Amino acid sequence: MRLVLLGPPGAGKGTQARRLAERRGWAHISTGDMLREAVRKQTPAGQKAEPLLAAGQLVPDALVLELVAERLAEPDARGGFILDGYPRNPQQAEDLAALLRERGLGLDRVVLLRLEDEAIVRRMAGRRSCPECGAVYHLEFAPPRVPQRCDRCGAALVQREDDREEVVRRRLETYRQKTAPLIEHYRAQGLLVEVDASGEVDQVSQRIEQALATSA
Ligand code: AP5
Repeated sequence: MRLVLLGPPGAGKGTQARRLAERRGWAHISTGDMLREAVRKQTPAGQKAEPLLAAGQLVPDALVLELVAERLAEPDARGGFILDGYPRNPQQAEDLAALLRERGLGLDRVVLLRLEDEAIVRRMAGRRSCPECGAVYHLEFAPPRVPQRCDRCGAALVQREDDREEVVRRRLETYRQKTAPLIEHYRAQGLLVEVDASGEVDQVSQRIEQALATSA
């Protein structure tokens, strides 16, 4: 299946995409993770993206398209994929459609994770990430076994720079202005399924599975 996970920052796209990918054997393609990795390695794309990520703004469409096109060409994406954080504006939706069309493909579903602002802020404020392996925790809802240490690789956990309160506000605004119009875009194509993203991680996973099964 070729799936897009849509939703505001902190709604749980990464958490749910990782679970789905593992269960179904689909490739998990997160543009946020790819960009953070590029920043960490200080590649030319990473250097360009760094100040934009820190400011909570979108990086240029062409730069992200290149990353996505390269990733989609990898063998593991042939059996299905979940796009997490892409597309993020109407131009990117067009770019993606063109990219898939070139390969004779299309999207099967777009899952929209819905969550109230208050819960979003709480999830982002408590998020801690591993700078080495990318694992994601939450101080309250998904704490590591040893405080501040990654369960997988033992590295010291960090707070994402763009999870600072003022940047979170800007990211929410960017989502409303640039990304939210995609909801109607995909609804009009009959691809959209909406899922309540509140409650525990397992509950949300179940709702996604149900939504995918009933909309098939
Ligand atoms: P990106 O990394 O894509 O960030 P985002 O969309 O803002 O989403 P987040 O990663 O913040 O949240 P999420 O929904 O994945 O939630 P998570 O599962 O972590 O993008 C970052 C930046 O990169 C952008 O601002 C932009 O600059 C750039 N960028 C990326 N893609 C781009 C593109 N296509 N074009 C241009 N620029 C782009 O969960 C959040 C927390 O809540 C975690 O701590 C988690 O443990 C916890 N949690 C999850 N689910 C639950 C639950 N059910 N109950 C309790 N806690 C939960």
